[in-house]
Amino acid sequence: MQKPHEKPQGMTIKKVRKAVFPVGGLGTRFLPATKSMPKEMLPVVDKPIIHYAFEEAKEAGIEQFIFVTGRNKSAIADHFDYSYELQHNLTNRNKDAELALVRDWLPPAGSIAITRQREALGLGHAVWCARNFVGDEPFAVILADDMVLSKKPCIGQLIEQYNKTGGNMAAVMDVPREKTKSYGILDIERTEGKLVTARGLVEKPDPKNAPSTLSIIGRYVLDPGIFNVLENQKKGSGGEIQLTDAMNSMIGKQPFYGYRFDGIRYDCGHKAGYIEANIAYALDRPDMKEEMQALLKQYGANIK
Ligand code: G1P
Repeated sequence: MQKPHEKPQGMTIKKVRKAVFPVGGLGTRFLPATKSMPKEMLPVVDKPIIHYAFEEAKEAGIEQFIFVTGRNKSAIADHFDYSYELQHNLTNRNKDAELALVRDWLPPAGSIAITRQREALGLGHAVWCARNFVGDEPFAVILADDMVLSKKPCIGQLIEQYNKTGGNMAAVMDVPREKTKSYGILDIERTEGKLVTARGLVEKPDPKNAPSTLSIIGRYVLDPGIFNVLENQKKGSGGEIQLTDAMNSMIGKQPFYGYRFDGIRYDCGHKAGYIEANIAYALDRPDMKEEMQALLKQYGANIK
């Protein structure tokens, strides 16, 4: 007999080849740093935040990268393009290692697509803006602000699970109850190992009304059917078109799974989380670990 979390017999699962990166946010929490620079270009150690999200997707086998941007975000497009003058200068000076850092990771021409959201109408609207690039196939969504340090890329863990079950899926983790009003929260139907089936989803509930403390973090694998739902999605929490509401209204037609991923998540959407990510990613770098440990010991010793 088919288990509840298994894909229905005969159902074919298409390969997840495309990832959508909603990067239209204003980044007001980081002003004035983000006055003329997209928040996604802020560095963690020595790479922009968006670069980590891109690397995570690439490592998970994603072939097409769709950025849903906004005004003043052209630095993101430039980051994923050739930089002729810089490449020329580095070549002339025989700076091969530096040249590799600006060029060697670039995906083939034509694999990056950029569209503008135009109006900040919410995450659901941002994802909907990618519909013509995604077409009729399952796709990943990565919110670059949520960084996940893990052995296996977080989105790769989700895709691996999606290949077994289909449905809509998001990475999930427990948060303290007082934090539920910052997240999409699962109403849990069933838990089997790392996989949780939800009977419902609520965007940013008050702690006292939250159906659980299991929260969505910014990694999703979605069925393309979500675009039809988003097309008519009414405004929800915060007066915005919410992805969580659209995924919730598909439950019944498509199962929704939360996947308790392996790894540590850093919330770069606020200052302390961003600084924590810098420390954690520096400690994770063999070329920086010792220097960082010494620094942290020094600071630790001075904290009363
Ligand atoms: C968005 C989603 C929310 C999710 C969160 C993860 O909220 O709407 O469901 O839990 O990302 O970071 P935002 O942080 O954009 O307000």
